[in-house]
Amino acid sequence: MSYLHDAGNPVAWKEPLMVTRMSSLASPYTALVIGASGGIGAAFCERIEGDDACGRLLTLSRSMDGFDLCDEESVARAAGRIRGAVEHVDLLICATGALTIDGVGPEKTIRAIDQEAMRAQFDLNAIGPALVLKHFAGLLPRDRRAAIAFLSARVGSIGDNRLGGWISYRASKAALNQIVRTAAIEIGRSRPKALVIALHPGTVATGLSADYGAGHDRFSAPESAGKLLDVIDQRPASDSGAFLAYDGSRVDW
Ligand SMILES: NC(=O)c1ccc[n+]([C@@H]2O[C@H](COP(=O)([O-])OP(=O)(O)OC[C@H]3O[C@@H](n4cnc5c(N)ncnc54)[C@H](OP(=O)(O)O)[C@@H]3O)[C@@H](O)[C@H]2O)c1
Repeated sequence: MSYLHDAGNPVAWKEPLMVTRMSSLASPYTALVIGASGGIGAAFCERIEGDDACGRLLTLSRSMDGFDLCDEESVARAAGRIRGAVEHVDLLICATGALTIDGVGPEKTIRAIDQEAMRAQFDLNAIGPALVLKHFAGLLPRDRRAAIAFLSARVGSIGDNRLGGWISYRASKAALNQIVRTAAIEIGRSRPKALVIALHPGTVATGLSADYGAGHDRFSAPESAGKLLDVIDQRPASDSGAFLAYDGSRVDW
């Protein structure tokens, strides 16, 4: 069993810290974490590394191996490498995303909307995950349970928006939710046992939230990743297309 590596580059093995068991997946299962260098992404990797049922954990990351979600060629190349390394991916988690891009943080007012900054939010938070669906969905097995989960955010909920602000990030996550929902319907036709979902991880103590989490209870990244893996493990394929929070509750669209 190999522990933590991408399709080409081995990464130092670390002592698993957390025990998680993905009992709904065939054992041994193959997992892929995209955004493995992120706060929550790294915590997913630690949890999955500690799962005896995981036969292989693959990772992709911009800073660790140059995988760029905003560049379709990079996404397609990575998918090709992984197709050459494994037959199927049973569990795919896309833990990428950003609230501040190139030093531009979330807007407090519509007067602060900047075309380039808004485009960058959509590129990373919505179009990138769509490219992951395009290039990686074919790796899911057809005949057994599989799961693809994308980290969204409750602030992407249109129905739950009572505060305003953060218009680009909110809108990019709302777009992500629609992309996940639409893809879930299509994937369900060829892979009826697959679960394709958008997840709200809670407010989590990572670099992303460092400047914005004041006044919120914050989960540690391992806590959030553990809760999200439980949600993925427990939800049936009939919930594919849902937008779920870390406690398994449905988030308003
Ligand atoms: N933290 C929270 O409170 C919170 C709350 C709600 C939702 N979320 C969502 O949870 C997800 C993960 O957040 P986090 O807190 O773990 O953030 P984080 O620690 O900043 O991690 C973000 C990840 O995204 C990757 N990334 C950024 N741009 C990329 C690109 N162009 N191509 C490939 N990868 C790219 C980063 O890669 P590199 O580091 O290698 O560049 C990193 O792995 C995000 O979608 C975020 O919106 C977080």
